[in-house]
Amino acid sequence: MRENIHKMVYLVLTLTIMSLLFLGCGAKENSSNTNEILLGGDYELTGGLAAVGKQTVNGINLAIKQTNDNGGVLGKKIKFIVADNKSEPSEAANAITKLINTDKVKLVFGSVASSNVLASVQIAEDAKIPLITATATNPTVTVDNGEVRKYIFRTCFIDPFQGDIMANFAINTLQAKTAAIYVDSSSDYSKGLATIFEQNFTKHGGKVLLKEAFLQKDQDFKATLTKIKAMNPDVIFIPAYYEEVGKILKQASDLGVKAKILGTDGWDDPKLIEIAGISAVEGTYFSNHYSPQDTDPHVVKFVESYRAEYNQEPSALAVLGYDAALVVIDAIKRAGSDDPEKIRQALEETKDMQITTGLLSIDQNHNSIKSVVVVELKDGQQVFKEKIVPTK
Ligand code: PHE
Repeated sequence: MRENIHKMVYLVLTLTIMSLLFLGCGAKENSSNTNEILLGGDYELTGGLAAVGKQTVNGINLAIKQTNDNGGVLGKKIKFIVADNKSEPSEAANAITKLINTDKVKLVFGSVASSNVLASVQIAEDAKIPLITATATNPTVTVDNGEVRKYIFRTCFIDPFQGDIMANFAINTLQAKTAAIYVDSSSDYSKGLATIFEQNFTKHGGKVLLKEAFLQKDQDFKATLTKIKAMNPDVIFIPAYYEEVGKILKQASDLGVKAKILGTDGWDDPKLIEIAGISAVEGTYFSNHYSPQDTDPHVVKFVESYRAEYNQEPSALAVLGYDAALVVIDAIKRAGSDDPEKIRQALEETKDMQITTGLLSIDQNHNSIKSVVVVELKDGQQVFKEKIVPTK
């Protein structure tokens, strides 16, 4: 009898514990399904572009934190899951596959580099999950052979625009007649820009004296720079990323290269000056997404909250990440749902939205029409030179 009572008590206790556990699991399962919106990030957290990858992620995180602190969106909190693509296209494809299949995110932000996004676009298209890049400027990211990729969007300008602007800047502002082009042939971004610059520079009466190439992770650029120096061009156009450009500028300065050196948005990271040194970057110019000297109240407010959160200065990438997240949050709000198809539709309808860097609309090619600034590096600082507002 006693034994039976013991058994009964044991059974009841076990059942109670099991049902509590079960209920607990159920509640937890429910909370992640209904109280959270899952968004993914496919980013360069290690490898050659880690510095800019982290800045972009910081910007996205800041916008999400502010939104969550204000009660979230559609009554839910946003959860941002980031996967490291190691700055490599094949890893970018792995990262987006994991985010979509394992983490079940509703949308993916990323990547920084055009080549990494290009390795992911088809995966997003097949899964019908929107992929939005804040930074990849190569035109083929959103448009494939004249056809718009349905699920891919971007919130930055495109390379034909910044390439044209740098060619015009060389011809008109610097009065250049001759140029050398030094291209990173491991990057779709760099190759695309080299072509655009050459076309526009030539169209305006300039002459391209030589085109040379290097690869990411190269260390020694002296032989090529010596060859360029011997041709004595007025300008050297280097549409590439800060790691290699930093080394090139240092070696060009050591070799006494006199030509003005021009670049594009891939130059924008403090590492450029860390690698090259202040004197080697003096008097170079590049196109960028925003100028830290902009006194627009939206920019000032953003810079203040970024400093307060991270105790560092934001680069253009941080602003771009932040703005892309604002665009996505706004789209989810307008969609009234976190259904990927509805978010996609709402992204397509983004019009005159106020973001940090101006008013943003997504055009029929899923691109953003935005202004470009040209900055000069002077005493180790980016000094604003020109702002070019696109004509619609
Ligand atoms: N625009 C570059 C690309 O498309 C990405 C980039 C932007 C990298 C800014 C560094 C800084 O590949």
